[in-house]
Amino acid sequence: MPDDLISHAAPLTSSRTKAPLAGSIRVPGDKSISHRSLMLGALAVGRTEITGLLEGEDVLCTAAAMRALGAGVERRKDGRWIVDGVGVGGLAEPGDVLDLGNSGTAARVLLGVLATHPFTSFLTGDASLRTRPMRRVTDPLSRFGARFSTRDGGRLPLAVTGATDPVPVEYTLPVPSAQVKSAVLLAGLNTPGETTVIEKEATRDHTERMLGHFGASVRVEPIEGGRRITLTGQPELKAAAIAVPADISSAAFALVAGLIVPGSEITVEAVGLNPSRTGLLACLKEMGADIVHQNERVEGGEPVADLRVRAGVLAGADIPPERAPSMIDEYPVLAVAASFAKGRTRMRGLAELRVKESDRLTGTAEGLAACGVKVAVEGDDLIVDGIGGPPAGGGLIRTRLDHRMAMAFAVMGLASAAPVQLDDARPIATSFPGFVPLMNRLGAGFPEIG
Ligand code: S3P
Repeated sequence: MPDDLISHAAPLTSSRTKAPLAGSIRVPGDKSISHRSLMLGALAVGRTEITGLLEGEDVLCTAAAMRALGAGVERRKDGRWIVDGVGVGGLAEPGDVLDLGNSGTAARVLLGVLATHPFTSFLTGDASLRTRPMRRVTDPLSRFGARFSTRDGGRLPLAVTGATDPVPVEYTLPVPSAQVKSAVLLAGLNTPGETTVIEKEATRDHTERMLGHFGASVRVEPIEGGRRITLTGQPELKAAAIAVPADISSAAFALVAGLIVPGSEITVEAVGLNPSRTGLLACLKEMGADIVHQNERVEGGEPVADLRVRAGVLAGADIPPERAPSMIDEYPVLAVAASFAKGRTRMRGLAELRVKESDRLTGTAEGLAACGVKVAVEGDDLIVDGIGGPPAGGGLIRTRLDHRMAMAFAVMGLASAAPVQLDDARPIATSFPGFVPLMNRLGAGFPEIG
């Protein structure tokens, strides 16, 4: 979001629904898969056709960037996206700064691509993205021979000059991050020999799956708790059709709303259930949530199902740290669910939440406290004491350019005693365009975002 628009914030007040939520919705396409389909489509030979692409601001930034780098990227009237790829190593120097908006995924994964293209690109983003750490990718990408010039603290804006003669890398991730893993693997595409990433904890594997789908050779070996992933460089990627499943990270808001608004019964259709993304469902089920998987099937290489939830009383739970990578974006809304649950929920090992679109560990704790919830941060753990019913609500939430914070607290207001106010709901458009009208189809009764 351009900074000069920040003064035109769009506040949103979320109030108790008049009736239970009911009905079926389909949420927009998966953000992670959408970014990757545009990038890999641009690096393939031939025409990639994408259905179900998320048309949120984040992904539109990636589409614009791939176009600026020389790929053909076009939206058809029927909603299909067509990408005419240039082949591995075939991108061209962009004529202007690439602006990745709010998207850490777009910036970091694209840096991987650019690290082995021998030209200079300049990257920037919005006020949130410009605070986020980039060393986690510039360090491993430098090993390929790429050069970076960054702001203090390794932050955007930065310049990257890709390696002319890249050397393959074996890299062990110091943090569990699919963005870093993907950046290294995509740098390995235009590098001769084998590039290897070792992750001690398994993170989302959309990049590996999609590389295989486009014809690259990717070897995945399980190691204790994690994986060793090896890509053979300089493959010819062949254009392939992509069907993007609905984003479980967006479905999460509707699912929690359905659980906490008394009497609700809703279905969220065709939700992507890649096992590296389903930690939230495991937690909610442990808390006693009534969630049923219907019509389980495989679409576009990813498992999907319709999820039917019924409201009910939840119980607090102890959430282990090793689950974090499989639900890293879902903690704010899980914490909201926990504030309605009976007893203590301890979410362990949330250090990575501090470096998301905002510091979500602090922001979630502050937001819940402002809504009368007993909450604490101990080290990297978030502790929420629920009262087995609606918390007071009534807080003013600063969304700090963070879409998921906005949606989590919007959901809270649907069932808390007093309304919850968001200072600015516009960040929602980065990942979930149409959130308000879609939730209103279930009966949420949100006012339109101004
Ligand atoms: C993403 C990975 C996660 C997640 C982000 C999307 C991806 O970030 O928070 O929203 O598409 O690879 P990290 O890999 O940095 O944990």
